[in-house]
Amino acid sequence: MSDYGIEVLWVLIIASLGLSAVALVFSISHRRRSPAAAYTAGEDVASEAARTVLREFEKNGHSADAALITWSPDTLRKILADDLPETQVIVVSNREPYIHNIKDDGIELLVPASGLVSALEPITRACAGTWIAYGGGTADRVTVDKNDRVEVPPGNPSYTLRRVWLTEEEYQAYYLGFANEGLWPLCHIAFTRPIFRASDWEAYEAVNRKFADTVVAEARNERPIVLVQDYHFALLPRMIRERLPEAIIITFWHIPWPNSEVYSICPWRERILEGLLGSSIIGFHTQFHANNFTESVDRFLESRIERADAAISYGGQTTLVHAYPISIEWPAELLARLPDVDECRARVRARFGLPADAKLCVGVERLDYTKGILDRFQALEELFTRYPEWVGKLVFLQIAAPSRGTLPAYRQLHEECRRYVEELNQRYGSEGYSPVLMVAEHHSQEQVYEIYRAADICMVTSLHDGMNLVAKEFVAARDDEQGVLLLSTFAGASRELLEALIVNPYDTAMTSEALLQALTMTPDEQRERMRPMREMVRDNNVYRWAGSMLLDAARLRKRGDLDRVTSNGERPSNSNNVVSIFERARKAAS
Ligand code: F6P
Repeated sequence: MSDYGIEVLWVLIIASLGLSAVALVFSISHRRRSPAAAYTAGEDVASEAARTVLREFEKNGHSADAALITWSPDTLRKILADDLPETQVIVVSNREPYIHNIKDDGIELLVPASGLVSALEPITRACAGTWIAYGGGTADRVTVDKNDRVEVPPGNPSYTLRRVWLTEEEYQAYYLGFANEGLWPLCHIAFTRPIFRASDWEAYEAVNRKFADTVVAEARNERPIVLVQDYHFALLPRMIRERLPEAIIITFWHIPWPNSEVYSICPWRERILEGLLGSSIIGFHTQFHANNFTESVDRFLESRIERADAAISYGGQTTLVHAYPISIEWPAELLARLPDVDECRARVRARFGLPADAKLCVGVERLDYTKGILDRFQALEELFTRYPEWVGKLVFLQIAAPSRGTLPAYRQLHEECRRYVEELNQRYGSEGYSPVLMVAEHHSQEQVYEIYRAADICMVTSLHDGMNLVAKEFVAARDDEQGVLLLSTFAGASRELLEALIVNPYDTAMTSEALLQALTMTPDEQRERMRPMREMVRDNNVYRWAGSMLLDAARLRKRGDLDRVTSNGERPSNSNNVVSIFERARKAAS
C-alpha cells in the first residue's frame, strides 16, 4: 500500500475510534441523566457499567472514573459475581442492625439510630453476607438459633446476623470505657477530655479477640472479604490477618482521625496503629482524616510511607489508606411509603402540637456532645434576641435519640439540654406556644423521614463529625426540592453538600444569621440549592461507597493472584495484600 493509502487508513481508524468513544461517552452520560431509564434496563446496564469500570481500572492499574456507574444493589452484586466470585462478605460492627427487646406484649424489634447501620444494611442485603455484631438486646438470646445466628431482615431474610455475647464487665470496659470514654473524645475535637484506663484497654483487647474468633468461625474459606467497622475494633484487623492471611480486610473508621499531636496522648497509640495496619485497606470519610492517620503512623511507627500510592508498608505488609465518603441509600426505599410533603407537614404538626403557621426547624441525632445541640440552642436564643419579630413564628423541634446514657458526659449533656430548653420556653414561650421542643426518644427511620419532609429548615451543627448522614438524609427526603440545610463546616458532609448554608457552630452570631437567611429564603433559592445537593447524593449513594471499596478489593485480589501465578508456582508470603504489588512495580521500574 502507498504512503498515501496508509495515511488514509490511519485517518479512518482514528475517526472510527473517535466516533466509538463519543458514542460511549454519550451513552454513559445519557444514562447518568436519566436514572429511570437506567433502572428499566436493569441488570445488564449495571453489569456493563461495572465491567467498563473494571476494564478501565485494570488497564490503568488504578481506579477508573467510578462516577460513570449508576450505583445500585445490582452493581454490587455484579461486582461480587464477576470479579470476586465465591467470595464471602463478612461485616463486623459493634452495633447490630436489628435488636430484639422484651416488651410487655412480646418481643419488639428495634433498628438502632446509627449512621453506620443505615449505610451497611442495604449493602449486606445486596451481598447476602454475614454480619457479626454484639447482641445487646434483652431478647437477642432467645431469637437466635443454636449457632447464635438469626436470618434478617425479619419477614424478608437476605443475610445472616451472627450475634456475639459480652459480659456486663466487658460491655462496660470495652464499649463504654475504652471506645466511648477514650477513643470517641480523642478522635472528635469537642473538648471533652478522653479517659484512658488500663482495665478498659485490657477488656478492649479481649473483646477484639473474641470478635476475631467469631470471624474465623464464620469464614467459609480462607479468602473472605471482611469489612471491619469503626473505632470499636482497632485491634481486630491484625488479629484476623494473623489467622486468615489471605483475607481481604477493609477497615472503615467512621469517625474523624485527629492530628498526630492530639493522637499522641493515647497511651496505646502504637498498638492501635499496628492493629489497624493489619488491614488491606483503611478507609476514612475525608482525605483530611486519611492524611492525619498517615501522619500518626509516620510519627509513631517505623514504617515506609508511599504517599503517591497512598500506601503504608509496615512489618512486611502494605495497607492502602483511602478516603471513601459514606452516603445513604438512593432512592430511599422508605420514601415510597410516605405521603406527600403537605401531608407530612400536617401529620408532624398534629403529632407534636405545633402551631400551623410557624416555621419548623428540626435537629435529629443521638444525644451526643459532638453534635453541637447546645450551640444550636444558643443560636436560636441569639436570633430571638436580635430579631424578636421571630418569637412566636418559629418552632425548633429537637429529636434526640438517647445514647450512652450511663456515661457522666452524656448524662450531663442531657441535663444541660433539658435546662436550656426549659429556660428558652420560659423566656420566649406564651400560651399555646413553646419555641423549643426536645423529644429524647428513639424514632424509626420512617418517622425521621416524615419529620425531614415536614421541616422548613434542618440544622446540623456538629462540633466535629466524620460525615453526618442526617444532612444527606434531609436532602434525600426533599423530593419537593424545598427546605434549607444549615450545615457545620466541621462535618465531613460539608465537603460535598456545598449549597448548604455552611456555619461554624462555635460562632453563635454567624449561625443565628444563617438561621435568619434560611427563614427568609425564597422557594426559588431553596430549589436552586436543594437540586444540586440531591444530585450529589444521588450520584454518590451508599452503593457507590461500598462499590468503590469492593472494586479496590477486587483489584488487590486480582493482583495478588497474578503474583502467585508469576512467582514460579511459589506462593508469595503476602499473596493477598498489596506489598507484592509494590515490590513488583519497583522491580519492573528498575
Ligand atoms: O459515628 C460513628 C458511629 O459508629 C455511628 O455509626 C453511630 O451513630 C455511632 O457512632 C455509634 O453509636 P452507638 O454507640 O450508639 O452504637
